[in-house]
Amino acid sequence: MKILVTGGNGQLGRALRRLAPKYPGDVFLFTDVDTLDITDPAAVEKGVADFRPDILVNCAAYTNVDKTEEDEAVARRLNAEAPEILAAAMQRHGGAMVQISTDYVFGGDKINVPLREEDATNPLGVYGRTKLEGEQRCRRVLDRLAIIRTAWLYSEDGRNFVRTMLDLTSRLPRVNVVFDQAGSPTYAADLAAAILTVVHHPELEKNWGTYHFSNEGICSWYDLARLVARKAGAGAEVLPCHSSEFPAKVTRPAYSALDKTKIKETFGIAVPYWTDSLDLCLKNLMHNG
Ligand SMILES: NC(=O)c1ccc[n+]([C@@H]2O[C@H](COP(=O)([O-])OP(=O)(O)OC[C@H]3O[C@@H](n4cnc5c(N)ncnc54)[C@H](OP(=O)(O)O)[C@@H]3O)[C@@H](O)[C@H]2O)c1
Repeated sequence: MKILVTGGNGQLGRALRRLAPKYPGDVFLFTDVDTLDITDPAAVEKGVADFRPDILVNCAAYTNVDKTEEDEAVARRLNAEAPEILAAAMQRHGGAMVQISTDYVFGGDKINVPLREEDATNPLGVYGRTKLEGEQRCRRVLDRLAIIRTAWLYSEDGRNFVRTMLDLTSRLPRVNVVFDQAGSPTYAADLAAAILTVVHHPELEKNWGTYHFSNEGICSWYDLARLVARKAGAGAEVLPCHSSEFPAKVTRPAYSALDKTKIKETFGIAVPYWTDSLDLCLKNLMHNG
């Protein structure tokens, strides 16, 4: 199988790179903004025509949720228009695509009931709106499409909540973290493994559509921060605070845990519990300094 990964230097792209050697029968091509700018239709057409991937996994996105509020045009170009450009190219060349989306397509209206794929969307900000538009545009142009919505992604790489908390709790005496937003963290390595299981699974041809994936279990950002600090042996006191005490440019959903039943049952995926995956990531981070 030939697999083209766009956004190959992001958290998820790098996690897929690490797993690629486990699939020696496949040919992977990892691209980044310099080798394949997904907003450039001519570059996308050439990239797809030259490599002729069986499947394209789009990991590129504008992921800085706060910044998208001031940069809506660029966010729309990257999160909505570019996925359509990719999907249309894959349709022309008879290929398939996995588009990665987000729990922020939901608005947190449902509390304490994990969100299913068919639940009504209601994004609260530009990031969620543009990612939702990306989903819709891809569905319109590509038949063989899997959309995988994920949440609270972290890894050993890049800018993410776990790394930020490791840093803050090692430097500051006290760190306030919101306890009134609940969801499920997702270790990028687990999502990458799930994506590669899905794309190789014989059931996929009969089951294109939308899926949810995160780690098992539900927590607040406060719980996650507290566990990071404790496991890292950091000195900071981690204190719970309300979202309202934390002026942010964008309102985040109060509850966005994803129901993963569909991806587990369709593809036989066993999803690791969030604290087990956090342990693995922290071990890697602390081992590699
Ligand atoms: N991070 C989260 O908490 C989270 C939560 C839910 C869903 N998701 C979704 O999961 C997916 C992966 O997220 P991630 O955290 O791995 O993202 P990430 O680390 O921010 O990586 C995104 C990558 O896209 C690249 N990129 C930007 N503009 C591009 C362009 N024009 N052409 C090609 N590549 C471009 C970026 O390159 P540069 O760095 O060079 O700009 C970056 O390497 C995204 O679809 C995201 O929306 C993420």
